[in-house]
Amino acid sequence: MTNWMWGVSADKQQASSRRTRKMRMSELLRLESAQVHDRQTGKVLLHPVSMSIMAGRSLGIVGESGSAKSLLAKTIMGLLPQSLEAAGSLYFDGGHYDLADGAAMRAIRGTGISLVVQDGMSAFDPMMPIGKQFLETLRVHRGESKQACMQAALACFERLHLTPAEGLWRRYPHQLSGGQLQRMLIAMALLLAPQLIIADEPTTALDVLAQREVMQVLRDVVQERACTLVFISHDIGLVRYLADDVAVMQQGRVVELQPVDALWAAPQHPYTQFLLASRERLSSRFRALMQRNAHAPSA
Ligand SMILES: Nc1ncnc2c1ncn2[C@@H]1O[C@H](COP(=O)(O)OP(=O)(O)OP(=O)(O)O)[C@@H](O)[C@H]1O
Ligand SMILES: [Mg+2]
Repeated sequence: MTNWMWGVSADKQQASSRRTRKMRMSELLRLESAQVHDRQTGKVLLHPVSMSIMAGRSLGIVGESGSAKSLLAKTIMGLLPQSLEAAGSLYFDGGHYDLADGAAMRAIRGTGISLVVQDGMSAFDPMMPIGKQFLETLRVHRGESKQACMQAALACFERLHLTPAEGLWRRYPHQLSGGQLQRMLIAMALLLAPQLIIADEPTTALDVLAQREVMQVLRDVVQERACTLVFISHDIGLVRYLADDVAVMQQGRVVELQPVDALWAAPQHPYTQFLLASRERLSSRFRALMQRNAHAPSA
């Protein structure tokens, strides 16, 4: 059983924050009353959420478009734009951070937490070959020789089917496909060997089979390195396959958070029930269509 803790009512959160002031053993990260609003309109975009991310587990985040999945990831990373304001606390690796203080949050990026963003192109410098960008970042973070960094990077490229690895190493970002760029980002995140990787729909530029393959590699490597993974995905089948725990978001709220098997066996929130039922309806319609096609006379 996990000891996830979440809740959206303020009094519940105050009680829970008193109870859990100290980090639990297997807890890697904890959010307490994390919230985000738009400074100009005052609109609450992420409603207060308190939850824990457990070390060594993989958390999938699902939910409709606009439900604040990316905002939740950016809040943890201290990457919100100036127009948005966060509040609440974050506990990570023994440290306590004020979510309103973006500068303090950025200090834990890199070796602590790495983010794989939705848009691969924006993460790389368009004027510099890919390999040079890997070397610059890896030499600082890994403290190894140029040769050792390059070897590690090329091995990681191969693992993510970024081949021929040495050819891609010399290319500029615009000479790569969207899918290759996304995998480059995943490679960079893995090579930095952080304690936590947050991947925001890391495979949207890939076809379905490649998506699953890349996610499988990502999870395997994460497990080998005893790293923790949070991934945001629209593919609920993929989440079922890869996640240990699932958070469901709707309209700026985390409405449910459970171990994956428990969620599928007994979804509690009406929106989760709807999500799982729609998937079931979709797959039975797909099966029926495939059967009909199989029996249709060929032209
Ligand atoms: N910079 C911003 N200023 C104002 N509103 C924003 C800003 N960024 C996001 N929002 C709003 O916050 C809400 C949550 O956005 P977010 O990008 O987190 O959604 P999401 O769940 O990641 O959606 P998707 O699945 O489409 O990526 C949306 O209503 C969005 O319009
Ligand atoms: Mg998003």
